[in-house]
Amino acid sequence: MTDLLITNAKPYGEEAVDLLVRDGVVAEIGTGLTAEGVETLDAGGHVLLPGLVDLHVHLREPGGEESETIETGSHAAALGGFTAVFAMPNTDPVADTAVVVEHVRRRGEEVGLVDVHPVGAVTTGLRGEKLAELGTMVASAAQVRMFSDDGRCVNDPLIMRRALEYAGALDVVIAQHAEDHRLTGGAQAHEGAIASRLGLAGWPATAEETVIARDVALAREAGAALHVCHVSSLHSIAVLRAAKAQGVRVSAEVTPHHLLLTDGRLTGYDPVNKVNPPLRTGADTQAMREALAEGVIDVVATDHAPHASQYKDTEWAAAKPGMLGLQTALSVVIHTMVEPGLLDWHGVARVMSERPAEIGNLPDQGRPIAVGEPATFALVDPDAQWTVRGAALASRAANTPYEGMRLPGAVVATVLRGRMTARDGKVVA
Ligand code: DOR
Ligand code: ZN
Repeated sequence: MTDLLITNAKPYGEEAVDLLVRDGVVAEIGTGLTAEGVETLDAGGHVLLPGLVDLHVHLREPGGEESETIETGSHAAALGGFTAVFAMPNTDPVADTAVVVEHVRRRGEEVGLVDVHPVGAVTTGLRGEKLAELGTMVASAAQVRMFSDDGRCVNDPLIMRRALEYAGALDVVIAQHAEDHRLTGGAQAHEGAIASRLGLAGWPATAEETVIARDVALAREAGAALHVCHVSSLHSIAVLRAAKAQGVRVSAEVTPHHLLLTDGRLTGYDPVNKVNPPLRTGADTQAMREALAEGVIDVVATDHAPHASQYKDTEWAAAKPGMLGLQTALSVVIHTMVEPGLLDWHGVARVMSERPAEIGNLPDQGRPIAVGEPATFALVDPDAQWTVRGAALASRAANTPYEGMRLPGAVVATVLRGRMTARDGKVVA
């Protein structure tokens, strides 16, 4: 059923209204609305946002089902307030052909809780040597709109140049994991005082900054859209600001963990804190927050990276990088951006829904809350507090860096085209 009466909801935290949804579309907004024979959702005066859109998740299917599946990842997404996610191609097999991206898309549709958009690989096998068949993936039933070798950087400038040229012609975006692998060989942590003290090989911030600088030049020349994944270093901000000022088609994301966590957490050598790019310094997290508020960084993307315990409960050097993000993202954004007054609810809608939908080229996501628009929402109780427990999260893996932390803000309901997908912490089957 996609007819729904939502009562007492505050769009963007403003005046409380009722919304009547017919056939998945907002038919009426007013006060004292009634309707016969429709499902109702008492919004309890909570904040109504457009459904959240995540440009960067790892759902691990096919091939990594011990860590996550499209089904368990969709549960986590719906519970986190997300209505669309982009699934990265570093699966096994790699999503570098129409067959694999179509499988991911179809599996997402079967689960039906969140729109799952497969990201295609830029290069065959993520090896960085030969362009994948981008045009075939664009034309496939998966309708791929974003390409990335995430987990790896497209390091070869000639390959990156060609990828951007194709992307411009196909009107798709190249999402770059900006890491010059020649500078990060063996790296285990942010290069700085803490890594030195702990005896961990350093990942210099320049490995990110130099790739971004190169790529914006290539994107400018190709006239193509470049998206920079998980910006982590304050030095990258100046490069992005200058590129945007010149009119280069570049967008950028920051993860919740790079807004909140620093390399100060590494002293216990707990691999739950190992992530790529690495947690950096307090000055970096502060710069990320300011750049997000200013719009130099466009969006928050989770880089949700589930890893089964055999990949994480091991010594630091052997552990895989990555951390869960889907069910904690909004709370971390409230804590780091809303509570200090850096973003209001319109701002949250901008960085977690509207801009991601624009960058990902999704015409029916990130839409205004208005009559005639899709009824695709996240309903948020901003006053709720909850304690994060990895074992209680919907992901198959439990590698949350927020274990035991008390975070503000709870997703009360998620609605996708008029259908409730989550309600009071439970998935609506
Ligand atoms: O921490 C990370 N984990 N960074 C990446 O780039 C890849 C991701 C993964 O796939 O686990
Ligand atoms: Zn990455």
